[in-house]
Amino acid sequence: MNIQTVAVIGAGQMGTGITQTFAQFHYNVLLYDSKKEQLSKGVEGIRKQTEKLVQKGKMTQLEQESLIQRIVPVSTIKECRNANLVVEAAVENMDIKKEIFQELDQCVSSQTILATNTSSLSITELAAETTRPDHVIGMHFMNPVPVMKLVEVIRGLATSEETYQIVKETAESLRKTAVEVKDYPGFVSNRVLMPLINEAIFSVYEGVAAPEDVDHIMTLGMNHPMGPLKLADFIGLDTCLSIMETLHEGFGEDKYRPCPLLRKYVNAGWLGKKSGRGFYRYS
Ligand code: CAA
Repeated sequence: MNIQTVAVIGAGQMGTGITQTFAQFHYNVLLYDSKKEQLSKGVEGIRKQTEKLVQKGKMTQLEQESLIQRIVPVSTIKECRNANLVVEAAVENMDIKKEIFQELDQCVSSQTILATNTSSLSITELAAETTRPDHVIGMHFMNPVPVMKLVEVIRGLATSEETYQIVKETAESLRKTAVEVKDYPGFVSNRVLMPLINEAIFSVYEGVAAPEDVDHIMTLGMNHPMGPLKLADFIGLDTCLSIMETLHEGFGEDKYRPCPLLRKYVNAGWLGKKSGRGFYRYS
């Protein structure tokens, strides 16, 4: 199948990064969000990010303009009907994702691949909501999408070999490396990353060290580009909590228990960078 038009569902941090990346590599992108303001904010964000690339001499003005022209914001899922590939990047909530998949299944061609950027939820369970479980797959991008080289490609129980190959080749056409994993909670990326972040939060919760010091230990001592608490703020503390809950529920082991301090911050609305406050403050 020749993928020319991609629909991205959700114009948040991940959805806009995914949109920018596809448009940069000459795909036509339909960008959908149920909230009008989020849709215009998302497109504006892509414009600003790509203007920075022009200023840095990494893209010409003409390339930037045509990149933006390849993005068509749409306000209904039905308008995604001509997509060959859909990448869903809505909120990490299984019920919401199921509704989106049911609606997509009814309006796009039976050959269209339905991919989800979920960071931990079951691909197999989502696929079961559709009449094409063989065409459903996980396509998990990392944040910031235009910069990070990995796409974790997750095979659901019924994902066909053809679907897997098309998605792998599509990820490679974006100059990313596709790594194949099976469908288990948190896949590999978040099964390894989130317990690290959760443990860093436990270190603060138990008074072992201040957030800055935990981060210094991991950046200076382990050469991580960002400390785990800054990274948690960057990912979103609500997302971190929801992934830990998926791991805890999915494996039933105490080692995945979310730290009470993480839960407290989320309840307070301290969601990290996007809300202006998490383990750090952002103006
Ligand atoms: N969008 C686009 N480009 C961005 C960006 C963004 N949000 N943030 C940074 N960049 C670009 C910068 O423009 C810069 O580009 P140039 O080299 O061309 O100038 C480059 O990235 C490096 O940025 P900086 O010099 O400003 O800062 P840095 O060297 O600290 O790098 C970083 C920033 C790439 C984000 C780096 O800190 C890093 O790798 N952090 C860890 C990121 C990470 O772990 N991501 C995975 C999160 S987990 C996830 O996404 C999955 C999940 O399910 C939760």
